[in-house]
This record gives sequence, C-alpha cells and structure tokens, in this order.
Amino acid sequence: MNDKALPRHVAIIMDGNGRWAKQHMLKVALGHRAGVEALRAIIRESSDLNIDTLSLFAFSTENWRRSETEVAALMQLLLEYFMSEIDELDENNVRIRILGEKDGLPAPQRRALEAAEERTKGNTGLNLCIAINYGGRQEIIRAARMLAQKALSGELSPEQIDEKAFSDCLYTAGLPDVDLLIRTSGEMRLSGFLLYQCAYAEFLFPETLWPDFTLEDYHRALEAYAARDRRFGGRTWSNES
Ligand code: FPP
Repeated sequence: MNDKALPRHVAIIMDGNGRWAKQHMLKVALGHRAGVEALRAIIRESSDLNIDTLSLFAFSTENWRRSETEVAALMQLLLEYFMSEIDELDENNVRIRILGEKDGLPAPQRRALEAAEERTKGNTGLNLCIAINYGGRQEIIRAARMLAQKALSGELSPEQIDEKAFSDCLYTAGLPDVDLLIRTSGEMRLSGFLLYQCAYAEFLFPETLWPDFTLEDYHRALEAYAARDRRFGGRTWSNES
C-alpha cells in the first residue's frame, strides 16, 4: 500500500469479545483472552507499516459496571499483557502511552502501566496508546480544568486558549488527530472514545467480532480508508464556472 494513503492515527474499539465467547460456548474472560491474541498481530503490523499512532480502547470508565468476575479477568489480562509483551514492544521501538485515569486502577496494574510508559518513553517507533479507565467526556473535562487552572495562575489568558492549547491538555498531547476509527462487531457507536480527536476521523464498522479480526480485515480497512475522499469541510470539485 502506498504510504501517503496510510492513516497516521488508527483508533480501534475492540468490540465483540463477549459475543465471540458466547458463540464458542466459552466464558466471557476467554473471549477477552482471544481478543488479546487478535491484538498482538495488529500491533505488530501497525509497527511494520510505520503507522504513527495506534490507539486501543481496552477499558472504559463505564466498564466498572460489569460483573466483578469480568472486571477482575480484564484487569488480570492487562497485567499479564504488559508483563509478557513489554520486552518485545521495547525491542520494536514501540512507545506506550496510557490514556485514562491510572489513579483509579488497582496498584499492580497502575505500577505495570507506569513502568511500561517509563521504559518506552524514549522510543521513536509506533505510539501505542492504550485507553484504560478512559472516558472521552472525562478527558475533555479534565482538559478544561487544566486550562482553568492555567488561566487562574496567570500562565495563560482565556484568549490564548486555542486548539493547540486544548489538545496539549488531552492524554494524547503531541499526537496526531485520529484519521481512521474502526469499531468491530457491527456496533456503530463511538462510546466516547477519543471524542475530541475524532472530529475529522473516517469511521469503519466491520461486522467481524474482535477476536476474529485478522490482518486481512485490517488491510481491507486500510484500503477502504485510502479510497475515502477526505475534505475536512472543504470541497474538491466545483460546478460554479
Ligand atoms: C468489548 O467487547 C471489549 C472490551 C470491553 C475489552 C477489550 C479488552 C481486550 C481486548 C483485552 C485487554 C486489552 C489489552 C490492551 C491487553 P465486549 O465484551 O463488550 O463484547 P460484547 O459486546 O460482544 O459483549
């Protein structure tokens, strides 16, 4: 695929693990585990394709409403993932960034995530953003508070609050806006994922359940993105003359 047509920032809502488990008559935790397997190949491929940023929705602020067993299984998977993958991610020059409120997580998970961010902070390859305990409105409110604090302390005047100042207060500070958002399993919702950053994103909603999402599906999505006509509110044709 031609590099120019590649998205700089791909965001994925990995939906359908529960339904996949049900289809296979397995417990939901095994659906999430299969989801992690699908994830590994997509991360490696994004890195090989030189995509700048890949953001994954792993756990929303609303996911705490799930059963205690499912939350515990997801937390355990996250911990295992970081313990087992960190060496390879680091060797592949991947930089990990956590999007969300780490303070609300159990201590072992928080420590593992912070250690992964710290260890990979000098890496210059794929920016791998993992959203955990993340909510899009919560991220925007947090940014508004940070800006209000800066205005109060005189660091910034209200007139200086522009798109740059605002996006610098988001978890994704310094990263490009989302170009392509993929949500698997046929659900057509954003669920608050990167609300601000998705302003001009192209959306794709493949029917595939996340654990069945293969590299072929990923390539198909990237090709569909490349065929889209992105105008950012402008016009690429005219019938005025
Ligand atoms: C949505 O499927 C998926 C989640 C809520 C969790 C996604 C998490 C992972 C794939 C594993 C952890 C991630 C990392 C980075 C190690 P669902 O359970 O809502 O599916 P359903 O709608 O079919 O029930």
